[in-house]
Amino acid sequence: MNAPRLLVTGGAGFIGGAIVSAALERGWRVRVLDSLRSDVHGALPVVDPRVDVIVGDVTDPGVVAVALREVDLVCHQAAKVGLGVDFFDAPDYVRSNEVGTAVLLAAMTAAGIDRLVLASSMVVYGEGSFRGSRGPARPGPRRGADLTAGVYDPVDEVTGERLQPALTTEEDPLDPRNVYAATKLAQEYLASAWARATGGRVAALRYHNVYGPGMPQNTPYAGVASLFRSALERGEAPRVFEDGAQRRDFVHVADIASANLAALDWTADSAASTFRAFNVGSGTVHTIGDMAEALSRASGGPDPVITGEFRLGDVRHITASSERIRTELGWAPTVTFERGVAEFATAPLRAAVRR
Ligand SMILES: NC(=O)c1ccc[n+]([C@@H]2O[C@H](COP(=O)([O-])OP(=O)(O)OC[C@H]3O[C@@H](n4cnc5c(N)ncnc54)[C@H](O)[C@@H]3O)[C@@H](O)[C@H]2O)c1
Repeated sequence: MNAPRLLVTGGAGFIGGAIVSAALERGWRVRVLDSLRSDVHGALPVVDPRVDVIVGDVTDPGVVAVALREVDLVCHQAAKVGLGVDFFDAPDYVRSNEVGTAVLLAAMTAAGIDRLVLASSMVVYGEGSFRGSRGPARPGPRRGADLTAGVYDPVDEVTGERLQPALTTEEDPLDPRNVYAATKLAQEYLASAWARATGGRVAALRYHNVYGPGMPQNTPYAGVASLFRSALERGEAPRVFEDGAQRRDFVHVADIASANLAALDWTADSAASTFRAFNVGSGTVHTIGDMAEALSRASGGPDPVITGEFRLGDVRHITASSERIRTELGWAPTVTFERGVAEFATAPLRAAVRR
């Protein structure tokens, strides 16, 4: 049988690049479609010479049609990521993420391609799941006044007790809390509608906080682990917002890449039209303060500083159960927090963006 031909949109990015490497290792033929956004790439990314690279935007139907020629399956990573700078970013999020996905899906239909893995995110859940003495709870949006007063954890509106965080499953309500999150959920809805309308098969992978070599470093959209890393590289202490006790699941980029390959395989197994979401996390919970401390220790840098600053769009705790992907796709993470963070402390980051 011929090797599958895979298109990775956003394949020059942090996660897309790891997926490209993993697919090449399997002997797949890989094409990348990436606009090389100047606000996330400080220099031309180095792409394996075996990859067919098309520089172009997923919102451009002509370019996407060319990128899909002789392709069997698509892994859609291209997106404007992160929390954004301010609300004026909203049209750009919607264009890149929603319009881009719609253009891609329409072009896939025209090209007769019916297998898609979509990069989604835990942000679609909003604040994670909680429990109180009255049972499961879903806290409402956080209030600026509470955060200013240092009240970070959600409380039961009736009893006033502090709610305890629990693991979020794929069946939990979806409740995006910022523009980026709204567009990630819109991508899922578009892909789900496409699967129903065309008989296509989609796995939407809701990644947790991804870290690892090649992370973007000084962009406003960079993840917290790379912001800490960049501070340490400048000889500065990592600045930890709130009280540092925000719970997250930090998952290594190599594990995200293997999850994508498992999901791509799965789209071939299922003959029927399907849309299925899978949480992808390491399965171990850490706090943002833990990440800052581990990086400071591993790099011999200054101790983190807890600043009490906050961003209104951030959620307090979000940690997911990744049981579904383990049992249904047979995927398991291989990089522990200790090993991954120790390596990440000195791993190369993506070239800094000039400002
Ligand atoms: N990094 C994380 O922790 C994380 C967590 C959850 C979900 N995700 C999702 O994973 C995917 C990859 O994210 P990443 O962290 O690798 O980000 P990244 O910025 O490193 O990579 C995204 C790539 O997509 C390209 N791109 C952006 N808009 C494009 C467009 N309109 N047309 C063509 N190319 C475009 C960029 O140039 C970049 O190379 C995104 O869909 C993101 O929403 C990331």
